[in-house]
Amino acid sequence: MIMSEQTRVSAPPYMVEKQRIIESYIDLHLPPADQYPQSLHSAIRYSVMAGGKRLRPILALASFEACGGSGEGILPAAVALEFIHSYSLIHDDLPCMDDDDLRRGRPTLHKRYDEAIALLAGDALHDLAFRLMASTGNAGVVTELAESIGTQGMLAGQIADMEAEDRPLSLEEITFVHEHKTGKLIRCAVRIGAILARATSEELSCITMYGEKIGLAFQIVDDILDIEGSTELLGKPIGSDTKNGKATFPGVVGVDKSKQMATELIDQAVASIASIPGQTGDLIELARFINGRQN
Ligand code: IPE
Ligand code: IPE
Ligand code: MG
Ligand code: MG
Ligand code: MG
Repeated sequence: MIMSEQTRVSAPPYMVEKQRIIESYIDLHLPPADQYPQSLHSAIRYSVMAGGKRLRPILALASFEACGGSGEGILPAAVALEFIHSYSLIHDDLPCMDDDDLRRGRPTLHKRYDEAIALLAGDALHDLAFRLMASTGNAGVVTELAESIGTQGMLAGQIADMEAEDRPLSLEEITFVHEHKTGKLIRCAVRIGAILARATSEELSCITMYGEKIGLAFQIVDDILDIEGSTELLGKPIGSDTKNGKATFPGVVGVDKSKQMATELIDQAVASIASIPGQTGDLIELARFINGRQN
């Protein structure tokens, strides 16, 4: 595989360190697999404990710390974001949506169990996420999450993605799809970190800009990896977008231009947090990772 614009970037040490903390928090806060209803609880664990990158919770942690937060008070909110993300993947893979058979290196949940279990496991993760988010005692972050994933957020992107199948899209239309289906939750992750750290309004607007730029870049890179990536590294099938006639950035502007745009967005994201006085190094490394990732 030839990488023209992006340089491969492995997971930064910060990410690896935080992944461990998040994994153990998830394990503690998911219902045990042997608790009734066992089929549902074991299905939830099968999907969530399958080794995702945990990018959204890690972004929330990095944003929290950059805005002066410290301690473990951010963890419930961070893990809530991962539960929402996992629910969105389970539903995204269903036959009525992208009809994919492989996720995080394993058969998708509806393949391993069945469609009813996959639907209900996604619903359950949504509920668990809101319970965790509410446990912060901050109504603002609960509203932030609801708005980010609802019909003006992630769901707007998912329906636009489905309705765009097998038709040509303009750059403006594909940008809408990506900013919503993927960008809104990533933007939400960094905003929630900042809000819980009691960021100033200037900091929050810088962080919001950062989240919007990396969120769009993340999905552009996802589209590129669907063409140039490896199923083994990604843990999901490449060529899924082509199979489904999906609108993608490479489909609209070509692979090279998509790489160039992703790199520009990452540079803009880094520039947008330059005036934050706190420790932004981890946010910068995470942004660079998004552009150079192989999984
Ligand atoms: C995949 O997200 C779905 C998209 C929004 C493109 P990730 O690439 O973060 O998936 P995991 O969590 O690491 O499996
Ligand atoms: C998924 O986008 C976005 C959400 C799940 C909300 P994709 O359909 O491109 O994600 P993958 O490629 O299946 O991970
Ligand atoms: Mg999809
Ligand atoms: Mg998909
Ligand atoms: Mg994809």
